[in-house]
Amino acid sequence: MKSRLLFLGPPGAGKGTQAELVCKDRGLNHLSTGDLLRAEVSAKTPLGKEADAIMNKGELVGDEIVLSIVKKRLINDVESGWLLDGFPRNLLQAQSLQQLLQELSQPIQAVLLIVLDDEILLKRLLNRGRSDDNESVIRNRLEIYKEKTAPLISFYSDLGILETIQGEGSVEDVATRIRNFLN
Ligand code: AP5
Ligand code: MG
Repeated sequence: MKSRLLFLGPPGAGKGTQAELVCKDRGLNHLSTGDLLRAEVSAKTPLGKEADAIMNKGELVGDEIVLSIVKKRLINDVESGWLLDGFPRNLLQAQSLQQLLQELSQPIQAVLLIVLDDEILLKRLLNRGRSDDNESVIRNRLEIYKEKTAPLISFYSDLGILETIQGEGSVEDVATRIRNFLN
Protein backbone atom coordinates (compact mmCIF):
# COMPACT_ATOMS: atom_id res chain seq x y z
CA MET A 1 0.00 0.00 0.00
CA LYS A 2 1.31 3.43 -0.88
CA SER A 3 2.10 5.33 2.30
CA ARG A 4 4.12 8.33 1.08
CA LEU A 5 1.93 10.64 -0.94
CA LEU A 6 1.89 14.22 -2.11
CA PHE A 7 -1.11 16.35 -3.13
CA LEU A 8 -0.48 19.13 -5.61
CA GLY A 9 -2.98 21.61 -7.02
CA PRO A 10 -4.20 25.20 -6.96
CA PRO A 11 -5.71 26.85 -3.84
CA GLY A 12 -9.23 25.56 -3.31
CA ALA A 13 -8.81 22.43 -5.45
CA GLY A 14 -9.74 20.28 -2.45
CA LYS A 15 -6.29 19.12 -1.31
CA GLY A 16 -7.00 19.54 2.41
CA THR A 17 -10.49 18.03 2.22
CA GLN A 18 -9.34 14.96 0.32
CA ALA A 19 -6.09 14.60 2.29
CA GLU A 20 -8.09 14.21 5.50
CA LEU A 21 -10.16 11.41 4.01
CA VAL A 22 -7.17 9.55 2.58
CA CYS A 23 -5.23 9.87 5.84
CA LYS A 24 -8.17 8.54 7.85
CA ASP A 25 -8.59 5.60 5.45
CA ARG A 26 -4.93 4.67 5.37
CA GLY A 27 -3.68 5.79 8.79
CA LEU A 28 -1.26 8.35 7.35
CA ASN A 29 -0.08 11.59 8.91
CA HIS A 30 -1.59 14.64 7.21
CA LEU A 31 1.21 17.14 6.82
CA SER A 32 -0.25 20.46 5.65
CA THR A 33 2.22 23.33 5.78
CA GLY A 34 -0.70 25.77 5.61
CA ASP A 35 -2.28 24.20 8.73
CA LEU A 36 1.07 24.06 10.55
CA LEU A 37 1.72 27.73 9.77
CA ARG A 38 -1.81 28.74 10.85
CA ALA A 39 -1.18 26.92 14.16
CA GLU A 40 1.96 29.04 14.64
CA VAL A 41 -0.07 32.18 13.87
CA SER A 42 -2.78 31.24 16.41
CA ALA A 43 -0.16 30.50 19.06
CA LYS A 44 1.43 33.91 18.32
CA THR A 45 4.92 32.40 18.14
CA PRO A 46 7.70 34.54 16.61
CA LEU A 47 7.49 32.34 13.50
CA GLY A 48 3.71 32.81 13.40
CA LYS A 49 4.02 36.58 13.68
CA GLU A 50 6.42 36.59 10.76
CA ALA A 51 4.21 34.30 8.64
CA ASP A 52 0.87 36.02 9.34
CA ALA A 53 1.28 39.09 7.13
CA ILE A 54 2.78 37.06 4.30
CA MET A 55 -0.08 34.54 4.36
CA ASN A 56 -2.70 37.28 4.41
CA LYS A 57 -1.22 38.67 1.19
CA GLY A 58 -1.20 35.21 -0.37
CA GLU A 59 2.59 35.26 -0.82
CA LEU A 60 4.84 32.30 -0.01
CA VAL A 61 6.42 32.11 3.43
CA GLY A 62 10.25 31.79 3.29
CA ASP A 63 11.67 28.43 2.23
CA GLU A 64 13.88 28.09 5.28
CA ILE A 65 10.99 28.38 7.73
CA VAL A 66 8.81 25.94 5.82
CA LEU A 67 11.61 23.45 5.25
CA SER A 68 12.53 23.36 8.92
CA ILE A 69 8.89 22.66 9.90
CA VAL A 70 8.54 19.85 7.37
CA LYS A 71 11.90 18.29 8.08
CA LYS A 72 11.14 17.83 11.76
CA ARG A 73 7.88 16.11 10.97
CA LEU A 74 9.14 13.84 8.20
CA ILE A 75 11.97 12.53 10.32
CA ASN A 76 9.45 11.58 13.05
CA ASP A 77 6.78 10.14 10.74
CA VAL A 78 8.90 7.54 8.96
CA GLU A 79 7.04 4.58 10.49
CA SER A 80 3.43 5.47 9.76
CA GLY A 81 3.78 7.23 6.41
CA TRP A 82 2.56 10.66 5.41
CA LEU A 83 0.62 12.76 2.96
CA LEU A 84 2.12 16.13 2.10
CA ASP A 85 -0.46 18.85 1.33
CA GLY A 86 0.59 22.33 0.23
CA PHE A 87 4.29 21.47 0.24
CA PRO A 88 6.47 21.74 -1.80
CA ARG A 89 5.41 25.05 -3.36
CA ASN A 90 8.42 25.82 -5.58
CA LEU A 91 11.36 24.07 -7.20
CA LEU A 92 13.77 24.77 -4.37
CA GLN A 93 11.38 23.17 -1.86
CA ALA A 94 10.86 20.20 -4.19
CA GLN A 95 14.59 19.67 -4.63
CA SER A 96 15.27 19.97 -0.89
CA LEU A 97 12.50 17.45 -0.23
CA GLN A 98 13.95 15.00 -2.77
CA GLN A 99 17.30 15.24 -1.05
CA LEU A 100 15.88 14.72 2.44
CA LEU A 101 13.77 11.75 1.35
CA GLN A 102 16.74 10.21 -0.35
CA GLU A 103 18.73 10.50 2.88
CA LEU A 104 15.84 8.83 4.73
CA SER A 105 15.41 6.19 1.98
CA GLN A 106 11.71 7.15 1.90
CA PRO A 107 10.88 8.25 -1.66
CA ILE A 108 7.49 9.69 -2.61
CA GLN A 109 5.34 6.93 -4.10
CA ALA A 110 2.70 9.05 -5.85
CA VAL A 111 1.96 12.70 -6.53
CA LEU A 112 -1.73 13.43 -7.08
CA LEU A 113 -2.39 16.64 -8.97
CA ILE A 114 -5.95 17.82 -8.27
CA VAL A 115 -7.11 20.10 -11.10
CA LEU A 116 -10.07 22.48 -11.03
CA ASP A 117 -11.36 25.39 -13.06
CA ASP A 118 -10.33 28.82 -11.67
CA GLU A 119 -13.89 30.09 -11.41
CA ILE A 120 -15.08 27.04 -9.42
CA LEU A 121 -12.21 27.24 -6.96
CA LEU A 122 -12.76 30.96 -6.52
CA LYS A 123 -16.39 30.27 -5.60
CA ARG A 124 -15.43 27.50 -3.17
CA LEU A 125 -12.88 29.68 -1.40
CA LEU A 126 -15.16 32.72 -1.16
CA ASN A 127 -17.69 30.40 0.43
CA ARG A 128 -15.19 29.16 3.01
CA GLY A 129 -14.05 32.61 4.15
CA ARG A 130 -10.67 31.91 5.77
CA SER A 131 -8.74 35.13 6.51
CA ASP A 132 -6.89 34.81 3.16
CA ASP A 133 -10.09 33.99 1.24
CA ASN A 134 -11.05 37.30 -0.32
CA GLU A 135 -11.10 37.78 -4.06
CA SER A 136 -7.91 39.80 -4.52
CA VAL A 137 -5.84 37.55 -2.23
CA ILE A 138 -7.25 34.41 -3.85
CA ARG A 139 -6.27 35.76 -7.29
CA ASN A 140 -2.77 36.46 -5.99
CA ARG A 141 -2.53 32.90 -4.55
CA LEU A 142 -3.56 31.61 -7.97
CA GLU A 143 -0.94 33.72 -9.75
CA ILE A 144 1.74 32.48 -7.38
CA TYR A 145 0.56 28.92 -7.90
CA LYS A 146 0.89 29.31 -11.67
CA GLU A 147 4.26 31.01 -11.51
CA LYS A 148 6.01 29.08 -8.74
CA THR A 149 4.17 25.84 -7.99
CA ALA A 150 2.91 24.71 -11.41
CA PRO A 151 6.49 23.99 -12.62
CA LEU A 152 6.43 21.08 -10.14
CA ILE A 153 3.96 19.33 -12.45
CA SER A 154 6.70 18.61 -14.99
CA PHE A 155 9.22 17.99 -12.19
CA TYR A 156 7.14 15.08 -10.83
CA SER A 157 5.88 13.99 -14.22
CA ASP A 158 9.52 13.56 -15.33
CA LEU A 159 10.04 11.33 -12.28
CA GLY A 160 7.13 9.18 -13.52
CA ILE A 161 5.05 9.50 -10.33
CA LEU A 162 2.40 12.11 -11.27
CA GLU A 163 -1.32 11.27 -11.57
CA THR A 164 -3.96 13.87 -12.47
CA ILE A 165 -7.29 13.78 -10.61
CA GLN A 166 -10.29 15.86 -11.73
CA GLY A 167 -11.40 18.03 -8.78
CA GLU A 168 -14.94 18.89 -9.92
CA GLY A 169 -18.07 17.26 -8.52
CA SER A 170 -18.94 16.42 -4.93
CA VAL A 171 -16.40 15.63 -2.20
CA GLU A 172 -17.45 11.98 -2.51
CA ASP A 173 -17.00 12.01 -6.34
CA VAL A 174 -13.43 13.22 -5.98
CA ALA A 175 -12.73 10.83 -3.08
CA THR A 176 -13.86 7.91 -5.28
CA ARG A 177 -11.50 8.96 -8.09
CA ILE A 178 -8.61 9.12 -5.64
CA ARG A 179 -9.50 5.79 -4.03
CA ASN A 180 -9.72 4.12 -7.44
CA PHE A 181 -6.27 5.34 -8.30
CA LEU A 182 -4.67 4.42 -4.98
CA ASN A 183 -6.19 0.94 -4.74
P1 AP5 B 1 -2.59 26.57 2.18
O1 AP5 B 1 -3.21 26.41 3.49
O2 AP5 B 1 -1.83 25.45 1.60
O3 AP5 B 1 -3.70 27.11 1.19
P2 AP5 B 1 -3.89 27.01 -0.41
O4 AP5 B 1 -2.82 26.31 -1.15
O5 AP5 B 1 -4.19 28.37 -0.84
O6 AP5 B 1 -5.03 26.02 -0.58
P3 AP5 B 1 -6.30 25.83 0.27
O7 AP5 B 1 -5.94 25.18 1.56
O8 AP5 B 1 -7.05 27.10 0.30
O9 AP5 B 1 -7.10 24.81 -0.69
P4 AP5 B 1 -7.24 23.25 -0.67
O10 AP5 B 1 -6.82 22.73 -2.00
O11 AP5 B 1 -6.65 22.63 0.54
O12 AP5 B 1 -8.80 23.13 -0.66
P5 AP5 B 1 -9.80 22.72 0.55
O13 AP5 B 1 -9.87 21.25 0.67
O14 AP5 B 1 -9.51 23.52 1.74
O15 AP5 B 1 -1.58 27.83 2.23
C1 AP5 B 1 -1.97 29.05 2.80
C2 AP5 B 1 -0.79 30.00 2.84
O16 AP5 B 1 0.24 29.46 3.69
C3 AP5 B 1 -0.07 30.23 1.50
O17 AP5 B 1 -0.69 31.24 0.75
C4 AP5 B 1 1.34 30.61 1.97
O18 AP5 B 1 1.37 31.95 2.43
C5 AP5 B 1 1.53 29.71 3.17
N1 AP5 B 1 2.16 28.44 2.83
C6 AP5 B 1 1.61 27.19 2.96
N2 AP5 B 1 2.46 26.25 2.56
C7 AP5 B 1 3.58 26.89 2.14
C8 AP5 B 1 4.81 26.45 1.60
N3 AP5 B 1 5.07 25.15 1.39
N4 AP5 B 1 5.74 27.39 1.28
C9 AP5 B 1 5.51 28.69 1.49
N5 AP5 B 1 4.36 29.18 1.99
C10 AP5 B 1 3.40 28.29 2.33
O19 AP5 B 1 -11.18 23.20 -0.11
C11 AP5 B 1 -11.48 24.58 -0.26
C12 AP5 B 1 -12.96 24.81 0.08
O20 AP5 B 1 -13.79 24.07 -0.85
C13 AP5 B 1 -13.36 24.30 1.47
O21 AP5 B 1 -14.30 25.17 2.03
C14 AP5 B 1 -13.99 22.91 1.19
O22 AP5 B 1 -14.93 22.56 2.16
C15 AP5 B 1 -14.61 23.14 -0.17
N6 AP5 B 1 -14.62 21.92 -1.00
C16 AP5 B 1 -13.63 20.98 -1.10
N7 AP5 B 1 -13.98 20.02 -1.98
C17 AP5 B 1 -15.20 20.36 -2.46
C18 AP5 B 1 -16.09 19.76 -3.42
N8 AP5 B 1 -15.77 18.62 -4.06
N9 AP5 B 1 -17.25 20.39 -3.70
C19 AP5 B 1 -17.57 21.56 -3.05
N10 AP5 B 1 -16.79 22.16 -2.12
C20 AP5 B 1 -15.61 21.58 -1.83
MG1 MG C 1 -5.54 23.34 2.18
